[in-house]
Amino acid sequence: MGNAKNKLLKFAEFETFSNCYDYRHQLKGQWHEVFGNSNPIVLELACGKGDYALGLSQLHPEYNYIGVDVKGNRLWAGAKKALESGWKNVAFLRIEIDRLADFFDAGEVDQIWITFPDPQPRKMRKRLTSFKFLNVYRQVMTPLGRVHLKSDSLLFWESTLDQIAQDGLRILEQVDDVYALDPLPEKLAIQTFYEKIWLLNGKTIRYVQFEIGAVKSEPLPAREEDRTEFFQDRGARRV
Ligand SMILES: C[S@@+](CC[C@H](N)C(=O)[O-])C[C@H]1O[C@@H](n2cnc3c(N)ncnc32)[C@H](O)[C@@H]1O
Repeated sequence: MGNAKNKLLKFAEFETFSNCYDYRHQLKGQWHEVFGNSNPIVLELACGKGDYALGLSQLHPEYNYIGVDVKGNRLWAGAKKALESGWKNVAFLRIEIDRLADFFDAGEVDQIWITFPDPQPRKMRKRLTSFKFLNVYRQVMTPLGRVHLKSDSLLFWESTLDQIAQDGLRILEQVDDVYALDPLPEKLAIQTFYEKIWLLNGKTIRYVQFEIGAVKSEPLPAREEDRTEFFQDRGARRV
């Protein structure tokens, strides 16, 4: 079967799965009813095939997990695995992460995992830990909500640490080389589809966990190279 046709079939099947949702479902404020319990809700953003949502759901049955990505054919893999395995504490949502606040109520999300996001070398505001995205997450979490990032990209990692410093956020855990840890904690031993590729390429995998906090004002980016875009976004010229 051709790749394009295969993608379309997966996409169509995704829509029929009982554990899959998209922009047509109005579930803001109702996710606990979807899961039929009051357990905390954890998102895996940019989840692709949802490897972290699946893995964590089995390590922590006392939480509910939702894998979020815009690509239905990728989500299909995770959704199918969860259905076939009978795992009830994991679901999948096909939306743009930018619109998270349209799909979750204030305080409805307990934790967020961001797994191997695109580094977006040229577009600071598209990085999933940019000021813009952290403010999206703030709309659906409490200030004590925790964000976990696992990444192979040094650029993305450093830009995240810069943003954390700028916003004065509290780092709860920082691991500069995950696979140098001995023993490797269970939560960090889960490997995603992209992670396996980066490991074969000899990349160092990093992890940070921080509190989302309650920052409201928008400080100047720490990196000189990010400032031009910052001013352009606001229609202002650099002086
Ligand atoms: C490099 S892949 C990583 C996938 C998975 N986490 C893994 O490690 O295998 C990045 C994923 O982010 C998703 N993505 C990027 N920006 C997004 C956005 N704004 N909204 C929803 N998904 C997004 C892409 O569709 C893609 O599946």
